[in-house]
Formats: sequence, structure tokens, C-alpha cells
Amino acid sequence: MKKIVIAIDGFSACGKSSTAKEVANRLGYKYIDSGAMYRAVTLYFINNYVNPANPKEVSKAMENIDVSFVFNERIGFSETYLNGLNVEKEIRKMHVSQRVSEVSAIPEVRKCMVHQQRKLGRKKGVVMDGRDIGSNVFPNAELKVFMNADMEIRAERRQKELLAKGELVDLPTIEENLKQRDKMDSERKENPLIIAEDAIMLSTNFLTLEEQVEHVLQLATEKMIKHNE
Ligand code: CDP
Ligand code: CDP
Repeated sequence: MKKIVIAIDGFSACGKSSTAKEVANRLGYKYIDSGAMYRAVTLYFINNYVNPANPKEVSKAMENIDVSFVFNERIGFSETYLNGLNVEKEIRKMHVSQRVSEVSAIPEVRKCMVHQQRKLGRKKGVVMDGRDIGSNVFPNAELKVFMNADMEIRAERRQKELLAKGELVDLPTIEENLKQRDKMDSERKENPLIIAEDAIMLSTNFLTLEEQVEHVLQLATEKMIKHNE
């Protein structure tokens, strides 16, 4: 069976990564969280006081940044590493969410990350989620899904997720962050968040996570059959 590329894009906290991770797991595909890569770069910028507006500082930082994914046998999923350190938990925190859209709008940052993402997906058999996967990273992906959900639902889901990880954040702060990132991600010049022409829209308002996964798996099966004809 020839493998395909599955691109899942959309706004923050719609369920992209939870769905992508599980779909990849069930298909035996590789899961790549492109947002985690931008978050890891942002964490480096924060920790090293890199000024995003200074091209020299940005270039030097990008030379020193190595983002990778390491499979954790115990949990059955990959975790994000920055220069050899496990940063999986740290990159999900609000202080990173509040800076990530600024950092990911820098052309040099995007160039480096997109190059790495294309390398990770060149053998296909990959599910990648993000903002520009179907529109820019893999414009020829066999399956493109674009997810959305209402702001209130997204904010509540994100709040629960953060709480489960030990961070209590009030809903207005989360909503403000999601709105701001949606705007910055959609309006940036380089690889903005747009709906690819051939993307299939999926609203997750009234779906459970399992239903989302089943839906994407169904779409993937149809595309795989077509791809193997
Ligand atoms: O999990 P959440 O949806 O909140 O965000 P994420 O997928 O971890 O992505 C964090 C940020 O990285 C986004 O708000 C974008 O600024 C950036 N990003 C991007 O520019 N391009 C991608 N392909 C993925 C993420
Ligand atoms: O990747 P993205 O930011 O789009 O969203 P996520 O991190 O996958 O999902 C945000 C939270 O919503 C996670 O805790 C999911 O388990 C939860 N969730 C969901 O994705 N779909 C539902 N139908 C219900 C909850």
C-alpha cells in the first residue's frame, strides 16, 4: 500500500494535534507537530533574549537551534527536544503561546522550519498539523483537512488542557491569546494561515475526539484507495 501525506491545518485549539496524533498512531504513520517546532524556537528566543526584530541575532540563533522529536516508549508518542533537552511541557505554557506568533512570522525562522518539515515528510506516511501544511509545506498532500470550532469552545478546551498540565489560566486570557494568534497567523506575509483550495473543512464543535479521529481516518482511507488505484 503506497503511503500518503495527511495535512491538518486550522486555528488554535480546534483539536488538530490530538486528532493528527491518533490518526498517525492508528495508520502506523509518523506524526509531526509543526507548531511544536515553532514553539521550541520561541522558547530558545525567550531563554536567550533573542530580539526578533534584529536579523543578525535571529540568524545566529537559528544556527544554534536544533529541534527534534524523540519517541517516548512509555507514553507511546514523540516528544519535542530543543538542543538535546526535552521541552515538551515547557513549550505548551502560556508564556510561549504569548510570543510564538511573533517568532513564527519571521521569514528566516519559517524558511528553516519548512525545510525541516519537508525533509521529515519526504518519504510520505506522515500526518502533520499546523497552519500552512496543506497550503505551503505539502501543497501536493493527498489529504488536506482544515479544522475550526467556535472561540468559546476552543478556549474552554485549551483551559482544561492547561489545567491538566498544572497551569491555571483564566478564560479571558486564553481567548485573548487565541484571537491574537489567529489574527497574526492569518495576516503575516510569509506562509499565512489560509484554507488550501482543496482542503476538506471540519468543524469540531459538536464532535468528540474519537468522532474527529474516525472522520479523518475515513477520509484518509478514501484517499489511500484512490492513491493506490
Ligand atoms: O496548539 P495550538 O493550536 O495553540 O498552536 P500550535 O499548533 O502549537 O502552534 C503554535 C503557533 O506556531 C501558531 O500560533 C503559529 O504562530 C505557529 N505555527 C505556524 O506559524 N505554522 C505552523 N505550521 C504551525 C504553527
Ligand atoms: O492542535 P490544536 O491546538 O488545534 O488542538 P488540540 O491541542 O489537539 O486540542 C485542544 C484540546 O481539545 C485537547 O485537550 C483535546 O483533547 C480537546 N478536544 C478535542 O480536541 N476535540 C474534542 N472534540 C473535544 C476536546
